[in-house]
Amino acid sequence: MEHKIRELLSESEVNHRIREIGEQISQDFAGKKVHLICVLKGGVFFTCELAKRITIPVSMDFMSVSSYGAGTTSSGIVKIVKDLDQPLEGKDVIIVEDIIDSGRTLSYLMEILKKRKPNSMTICTLLDKPERRVADVEVKYVGFNIPDEFVVGYGLDYDQEYRNLPYIGVVEV
Ligand code: IMP
Ligand code: MG
Repeated sequence: MEHKIRELLSESEVNHRIREIGEQISQDFAGKKVHLICVLKGGVFFTCELAKRITIPVSMDFMSVSSYGAGTTSSGIVKIVKDLDQPLEGKDVIIVEDIIDSGRTLSYLMEILKKRKPNSMTICTLLDKPERRVADVEVKYVGFNIPDEFVVGYGLDYDQEYRNLPYIGVVEV
């Protein structure tokens, strides 16, 4: 089945904003290194583009989580499907996410990762739906605040499809 996708944020808007965030991170962490954690799979396009725009030393690691429970809302209980390869101790960690919806996934993930004693832990998300927030998470870098609509592209999927769109679009039903 094919869906109609309405463009919400164009490829150039997204790329321009990622460039700005990259510059901001490079300034904020000047003189340090940052350790980017990509939350698979949705965060992968954003993480790669962002990493290219950071001018201070960068290391990267990847993890995959799934939230328990049925339906489209996350339960907040997170299962680590693929864990990080490297320890976090003493590192300035930036968790890179595609989108924050209820915030449950991230708030649980933060609890798990804090126990690994990073020097600092910051959240960076391409998209945020602030209206939908249930769990309290402090997000330092936000690409765009968007309304409560289901979006795809730039890593975000609808049933595993449309991750490869170079822009952000709304799935019209
Ligand atoms: P939450 O913040 O725990 O509610 O869940 C966030 C996760 O739900 C994101 O990492 C996405 O995988 C998924 N998600 C939330 N909203 C959307 C959307 O509009 N499009 C695609 N995936 C979404
Ligand atoms: Mg995600």
